[in-house]
Amino acid sequence: MTGLKTSPLTQTFGVEVHDLQLANISQDHLFPELRSLFEEHSALLFRNQQIDDARHMAIAQLFGAIEDRNADERPADEPFSVPEVSNIRQDGSVTDQMDQHTLHLKSNMLWHSDSTFMPVPALTNILIGRVIPSTGGATQLASTRAAWADMPEMLKAKIRDRGIWHHYAVSRAKISETLAKLPMFHKWPAQHWRAVLRNPINKKESLYLASHAYAVDGYNELESEKLLEELIGFCTQEDYVYSHDWQAGDILIWDQRAVLHRGTPWPYDEPRKLSSICVSIGPEDGLHEMKLVQDR
Ligand code: OGA
Ligand code: MN
Repeated sequence: MTGLKTSPLTQTFGVEVHDLQLANISQDHLFPELRSLFEEHSALLFRNQQIDDARHMAIAQLFGAIEDRNADERPADEPFSVPEVSNIRQDGSVTDQMDQHTLHLKSNMLWHSDSTFMPVPALTNILIGRVIPSTGGATQLASTRAAWADMPEMLKAKIRDRGIWHHYAVSRAKISETLAKLPMFHKWPAQHWRAVLRNPINKKESLYLASHAYAVDGYNELESEKLLEELIGFCTQEDYVYSHDWQAGDILIWDQRAVLHRGTPWPYDEPRKLSSICVSIGPEDGLHEMKLVQDR
């Protein structure tokens, strides 16, 4: 139990935390309580937050190491800048509907967990609403922990104890073959993760899936594709989904080991901007155990 005031986001997972400014938390003050809520409920919502980039980074660091996908490409004197999920250009105009950048944003509309294609995937994404369109543009979360708990044994048996291969270009190819060829989607070799993860704290199991997944051990290409589709379909049924309609200042924090997410469409001639910091999974978060024994 914590002293924080919360209310459930759905019947199966997630809580909104009330009466708390994230700007005021620190490693000793309230973070331990938040971290327990994160482990237990998998998704946290905070509304009306005043968080600038520096504070955003400070909050992320409480969870672990900030993911920096472009560290190797940036000049040494250029600091990390908070990634934006945005269709707004430097001059304030928005990118066209079929622009490659917009297509990249559209890939976010496939159910996924972030960075499963990286050698160290993401533990969480701390997403802040900045510029919100008049309609649409929700972010949806689906609990693969709640879904796994309810899943018929017949389906569970098809995936238990197997590994799944993930590659960044796989999700982009589902939107555009041209997009998928860009070098930025070929930076990391395919990664192999256990399909079922166990939370190191509470031992609860979840499915670890993503739009980036393409091959399941022991199945051919078509079988893999069908099984992945069936599993994602099961996990993203209404009972396991929370859909968040953004207001500027909202913050969503979720456990990527146990939650899938996706964006939803909005009128592409309207600006939409979220700030997003992913934190990498660390040893205490079960990184080692995410690998199959043969890969360790
Ligand atoms: C992300 C993401 C979805 C959205 O930031 O990783 O998938 O709603 N965003 O934009
Ligand atoms: Mn994402």
